[in-house]
Amino acid sequence: MCARLISVDDEAGWIAVCDLDRLKREAIVRVAGRDLLVIWNEGHVVACERACPHEQADLALGHVTAGRLHCPRHAASFDLRDGAITAGWPSLPLRLYPVRITGGQIWIETPQQQTGR
Ligand code: FES
Repeated sequence: MCARLISVDDEAGWIAVCDLDRLKREAIVRVAGRDLLVIWNEGHVVACERACPHEQADLALGHVTAGRLHCPRHAASFDLRDGAITAGWPSLPLRLYPVRITGGQIWIETPQQQTGR
């Protein structure tokens, strides 16, 4: 499935990403102006970094199955509950970000509000 670029509005450290219905249709949505994605995963919204922590492949080109985001470059995948990479891969986990949904609108907390790695 192909990811689409969407618009952004900043509000007190949170980014308005898109409406929930749109994410359900598209499954993976890129956040305009940020290296972030939002993903529809088994009835839940997940926000994560866009660059694969292994070798920086564009995860917007990946796909989601059985609760895992599969990298388009190599065979590794990430658990969308905690970001853990496939066992045995020499990589940090995928970084996840807080999500909230208000009035059908998805918001994610910006990385600038989080502690660094
Ligand atoms: S670049 Fe994503 S698993 Fe290697």
